[in-house]
Amino acid sequence: MDYFLTEQQKMIKDLAKRIAEEKVMPVRAELDEKEEFPTAIMKDLADADLLRVFVPEAYEGLGGGCTELCLVVEQLSRVCSGVAVSYAANALGTFVLMDFGTEEQKQKWLPDVAAGRKLAAFALTEPTAGSDASSIKTTADKVEGGYILNGTKQFITNGGDAELYTVIALTDKTKGARGASAFMVEKNTPGFTFGKKEKKMGIRASSTRELVFKNCFIPQTALLGREGAGFLQTMRLLDRSRPGIGAQALGLSQGALEAAVDYTRQRVQFGHPLISIGVVQDMLADMAIKVEASRALIYATARYIDSGAKGFTEYSAMAKVFASDMAMDVTTNAVQVCGGAGYMKDYPLEKFMRDAKITQIYEGSNQVLRNAIAIELRKRKAKAE
Ligand code: CAA
Repeated sequence: MDYFLTEQQKMIKDLAKRIAEEKVMPVRAELDEKEEFPTAIMKDLADADLLRVFVPEAYEGLGGGCTELCLVVEQLSRVCSGVAVSYAANALGTFVLMDFGTEEQKQKWLPDVAAGRKLAAFALTEPTAGSDASSIKTTADKVEGGYILNGTKQFITNGGDAELYTVIALTDKTKGARGASAFMVEKNTPGFTFGKKEKKMGIRASSTRELVFKNCFIPQTALLGREGAGFLQTMRLLDRSRPGIGAQALGLSQGALEAAVDYTRQRVQFGHPLISIGVVQDMLADMAIKVEASRALIYATARYIDSGAKGFTEYSAMAKVFASDMAMDVTTNAVQVCGGAGYMKDYPLEKFMRDAKITQIYEGSNQVLRNAIAIELRKRKAKAE
């Protein structure tokens, strides 16, 4: 369907599609098998200027918004979600800087991100603070000239491979969510080390590591925005980035649907290609309907966010929840219609299914997000009364 993308958006989408097919497709199975971070592909993306997409023009970026980011993520994920999430987490790691950093901070870090010289990551989650994000324990104690960080961050995408980390830590332990602040912490800062690299079910090309801070001094200039604003900054940035997880789910579902159509066109049983059998047609048609409905919701939400709208928490959550539940459903059925072949590693179907699962879990589990949607519905009703 034509979503009336601008010429620049079409160009970005086509470029991402070409790189995904030419550079990612040939190595995706190997990256998945070896759990290898796609360093060479990130360089290809940088060389194609795709890491500039979400950075404002003033800092050597292309000035794109949520829509452009979703278009790139969707195309990468159509081939490999491990690569797509490495790309998306880079954007997530720069959102607080872009929205709340000073001119000096932006000039210092953003051109390097835009050019792909430095990769970014976002560090909120901790061993005891996942869905319950405001219960983080990492502290940033004020000292002369800066802060001392202590604590452990867990499940950090791009952990170890990124150079820049947006870290959420408590500057005032007595104030809970209102006592959290955001900092930009550079790799190789003394006192900042990496814990174990996680072994994952899916998105295995991406790296997921623990970050460990032990008496790690960071200068005052590392503080992004004001002290105490970290939790609200985080909630806002997650509202903005969740359609990107929807786009990841959408891309991998599209990839699985295409692979299922290809296979069922060629596979002959009972004297006919599988695709001419009614029950298989029903399944493929349902998959196609769900993929297109997700695309429509994600693009509409991304456009709404890019229009400068305020208060899009529920729409952003809806796009992520709908697309990720759809992805689990579509990839499971894609494996099913391809039978034994779908289950084997010679075909990409089983990888799409494994990759789909995480989209229901990260950047807010679908349970937490349904709760957030319900809260917004209640507020809306209360306002109307
Ligand atoms: N926008 C603006 N403000 C918001 C907000 C939003 N979306 N959500 C909450 N707030 C505000 C509230 O209004 C409240 O403000 P006041 O103190 O002025 O009243 C404040 O934040 C605290 O709100 P709550 O009491 O509702 O906070 P809570 O502690 O109960 O939070 C939660 C609940 C919203 C579920 C939150 O914990 C949450 O979002 N959890 C999910 C965590 C998450 O998404 N983690 C993702 C990690 S990143 C990742 O996964 C990346 C990756 O690897 C790819």
